Formats: sequence, structure tokens, C-alpha cells
Amino acid sequence: MKVAICGGGRTGHLNAILFKQLPNVQVSMLTGNPEIIEQHARHTPMQALLPDGSTLTARLDRVTADAKAAIEDADIVIITVPAHVRPQTLQAIVPHLSASKPVYIGAIPGFCGFDWLAEAALPDRPNLVIWGMKDVPHTAFELTPGRSIKMGGGKSQLYVATHPRESQASGQQLQGILTRLYDPCVRMLDHYLEITLTPGNPIMHSSVIYGLIGPYGQWHRKIFPQRMCWWSECPELGAYFLERMDQESQALCAVISQRLGIGLSSVKALKQEIVEAYGDQIRDQSSMLSILRTNQAYNNILAPMVPAADNRAGYVIERESRAFNEDVAYGLVLLVEMARRLDLKVPYIEEVLQWSIAYMQGLRDSALDYFPRHWPRAANAAA
Ligand SMILES: NC(=O)c1ccc[n+]([C@@H]2O[C@H](COP(=O)([O-])OP(=O)(O)OC[C@H]3O[C@@H](n4cnc5c(N)ncnc54)[C@H](OP(=O)(O)O)[C@@H]3O)[C@@H](O)[C@H]2O)c1
Repeated sequence: MKVAICGGGRTGHLNAILFKQLPNVQVSMLTGNPEIIEQHARHTPMQALLPDGSTLTARLDRVTADAKAAIEDADIVIITVPAHVRPQTLQAIVPHLSASKPVYIGAIPGFCGFDWLAEAALPDRPNLVIWGMKDVPHTAFELTPGRSIKMGGGKSQLYVATHPRESQASGQQLQGILTRLYDPCVRMLDHYLEITLTPGNPIMHSSVIYGLIGPYGQWHRKIFPQRMCWWSECPELGAYFLERMDQESQALCAVISQRLGIGLSSVKALKQEIVEAYGDQIRDQSSMLSILRTNQAYNNILAPMVPAADNRAGYVIERESRAFNEDVAYGLVLLVEMARRLDLKVPYIEEVLQWSIAYMQGLRDSALDYFPRHWPRAANAAA
């Protein structure tokens, strides 16, 4: 099996190393990072440091910045770059994907409507099967490019969906491939929207930032004396907005489910998602605030901050961070647009979105660049 991984970041490294532990799996990595290519040329082994202290070592078959060399014979392509980088990655690889065999092209994680982006980039290519995984199979951190990556907690179940255009047979083939690549049980979801609508980073990051520095936040127009942790120092106001935004996101699910006639029962409220994923690692499960603040798995994760401008001491929230470029521009924007097309009011999400866009000094690109113009009409027809 030939696997091509696009993106030499944390997720890309960890997955590449895991796949190379399996017999008869070739792995190529497409990366824009010359450091990784150089380490590979020097035969430096890549290492994954596991939570139990053990180490896995791998040498990938190819590491390159040349999309053709990385992709042309791949059976499965896994895009691991953030959602706002996917359009340029797809543009680079599409001309080189095989036209003579099925190629399973997917994103991990598959949120922010990857199915719609890929559909727009891959029309009239029936041999290409579009898919996405709901979440990363393991968290990955502390990357030394081309050398090592640390593996965090893994999911016991992996949820995968294909684009509604794909056949059931393609879905079954994909499930077989992914089951070979990942040990845990791979479960196919009924509809890609189950991935797109699962609450996660887009509402989590934006609500916490709004609670900190939005118009009612205690750090509004102030400079932080030191870097803050996302979750263990989460403000009450952030948790309040998060809960409200999650309620609106659930209401959106209910309307979509009813109007499009699709089952979205796997999409749970955020609190439930987090409690099910982390269980005993959460010391106090009584409220959204306590769940965020007392989840051990969330300890010590720093919010995106940069030193304040003009040599002033302290830090400010980084406008160019992924919390905006990915989560707001490719996540929140989609929720609001879907709600708008269904005449559903989502005032909390809208309030946070508008403020975030102003903080970003406007949207440059967004998921609206590929969100189907006729949705939900086209989706209705497919269902
Ligand atoms: N790491 C985790 O534990 C984790 C957990 C949950 C979700 N995720 C999600 O998984 C996806 C990948 O995350 P990651 O942690 O693996 O990211 P990462 O370590 O930052 O890697 C992302 C890679 O994307 C490529 N890239 C190209 N242009 C970029 C740009 N403008 N900004 C950022 N990256 C750019 C780079 O690869 P090249 O230099 O090789 O081209 C970069 O190494 C994201 O959607 C993230 O939200 C990750």
C-alpha cells in the first residue's frame, strides 16, 4: 500500500512513523520544510516518543517538496495541514493524482467542510474517493522536524465519512484500508456533515478569546503580563459563550437533520464529547467551566500569544494564529452561513464571529470560497 502524507507537521510526522511500523506499507511525505528533507537525505531516523516512554523508529520511503514525486503512485493521500492551507495543498497535488486506479484522498482532521473543498477541486475525477476523519487519531506535540515527535492520548474509536457522492463499496474499501493503517476500530459515519457539525476548535477557541479580550472581557484592550493557558485559565465568560454557541450549534444540527432528512445523532453536545473523550482525566465534570479547567489532558496548553508591539512588556493574542485563520475563517464562518441559509438565528455565534473578523482585520480567504452555492438544495438532492 502506498500512502502519501501531505504536511510535515506534528500530525504528519506521527502518522507517517506509525504507518511505517506495518509490513508492506510505503510512505511518502510532501513537505515545504527543507529541514525534514535534509534530515531524510542524511538518513536520520524519525522517532515517535510514546506516552509509555517507549520509542518507535522509522525511515520514510520518500520525503520531498515535489508534489508529483510524493503523490503520483499513491493509493491513499492524507492531508494533515490546517484547513486554511488545504486549498493550496490540493491545488498542488491534484494534477499528479493517478487517473488509472482508485485513490482515496482525505483530511485528518476532516472538519471545516473538507468534502466541499475537495469536491470543488476534484470535479469529474470519479476514481478519486473523498473522505475525512472526524478527529486526529492521537494528539501529537513537541515536533523536531525530520527527527522526533511526541505522541499523546489516542482515540479508541476513529470516525470516518466519505463525500455523499461516493458509493457504499468505496466506503467499504476505505474502511478496509484505514483499518489496516490504524489499529483501533474504524467506524464509518452515515454522512460527512457529522464531521462538519461536531463541535470543536472553531467554537472552543473563538469563545475563549472573546471571553478574554472581547468587549466584555477582563483583558479587553489590555496587555497580558504573561502567556496564559487556554483551558486551565479559561475565563468564566469564555465558558458562558462556549455553552451558548454549542447550544446554537446543536440547534443547527437539529434543523439540518430535519430539513435534509439525515441522521446526525452521532453529533453530541460539546460537554458530552469532552467527557466521553477524557473521562477520569477530568477532575470536576459539573460545568463547562470546570470541565475545561480541570481536564488534565488540557493542562499547560498555551493560548496563542505574541509579545506586545512597540517594546511594551507583556503579550497579546496573536491575530495571525490558527485560532483565527483556521477556526474562525474556515469553521465559524461555515456554521453561520449554514444557519443563514436555513433561516436559523445563531446570535451568539454571529456575535463572536463578527468580533473575531474585526480583530483579524477582515477575512482574506475563508470556507465560503468553496461552500456550495446551492447548499442545502444540492445536498437535499443527494440525500
Ligand atoms: N497536533 C495535534 O495534536 C492536533 C490535535 C487536534 C487537531 N489537530 C489538527 O490537525 C491539523 C494539523 O495540526 P498539526 O498540529 O499537525 O499542525 P502543525 O504541526 O503546525 O503542522 C501543520 C503543517 O502544515 C503545513 N503548513 C503549510 N502552510 C502552513 C501555514 N500557513 N500554517 C501552518 N501550517 C502550514 C506545514 O507543513 P510543511 O512545512 O511540511 O509543508 C506544517 O508543518 C490542524 O487542523 C489541527 O487543528 C492537531
